[in-house]
Amino acid sequence: MERLQKVMAHAGIASRRKAEQMILDGKVRVNGKTVKELGVKVTPSDKIEVEGVQMEKERKVYFLLYKPRGVISAVSDDKNRKVVTDFFPNVEERIYPVGRLDYDTSGLLLLTNDGEFANSLTHPKFEIDKTYVARLKGIPTKEDLQKLERGIKLEDGMTAPAKVKLLSADTKAAKAIVQITIHEGRNRQVRRMFEAIGFPVQKLSREQFAFLTLHSLNAGESRELSPHEVKQLRVLADTGKRR
Ligand code: URA
Repeated sequence: MERLQKVMAHAGIASRRKAEQMILDGKVRVNGKTVKELGVKVTPSDKIEVEGVQMEKERKVYFLLYKPRGVISAVSDDKNRKVVTDFFPNVEERIYPVGRLDYDTSGLLLLTNDGEFANSLTHPKFEIDKTYVARLKGIPTKEDLQKLERGIKLEDGMTAPAKVKLLSADTKAAKAIVQITIHEGRNRQVRRMFEAIGFPVQKLSREQFAFLTLHSLNAGESRELSPHEVKQLRVLADTGKRR
């Protein structure tokens, strides 16, 4: 539910102030009834007419961003730090991130103004795979990594089985690079999983979300998803629903 004047402003009718005046002037109808007061809230299914013309809904848009480290996965920040929507200065639609990456995590993040799409991709029951690459302090053994593959107890419960692969190990520097795929999305989950087996994460990047990769993007760059990719993601979420 959003205020009528805000919805009008986002649809490009007029500024919020002007939209308020149009409401007071009796120029706006909601579901066939003229609205003359300012407190009215509407849902996406309400039919809004302005001066007798039905308002067009905001078009749905879908973006993939290579989020750099040091950026908040939000649309605004009270401490004025950089937020992910700062990378879309020319996008008029009210996009927001699908789930989140930590401030100090880089990698693949989707943004959209399609609430249903965002919900279906973030809900754990849809089991969308997300692949991360972590640089660890220390070198875990096969047995250490098997604990994550089986599922490990964190303070908010057991994790689901993960796919884990040691990509490289530097014995001199005592560091390892490990790839991990999970389908849950708890707060700081990957960092907490490695912490739980005694190998703190020094650097973390999300390399893949479902079938999407960062291919050919640099940190801070983004691209629009193709209609086919959007459809494929919907199909994946629907398949998850039926499991
Ligand atoms: N797991 C983490 O620990 N951090 C992220 O940003 C994402 C997953």
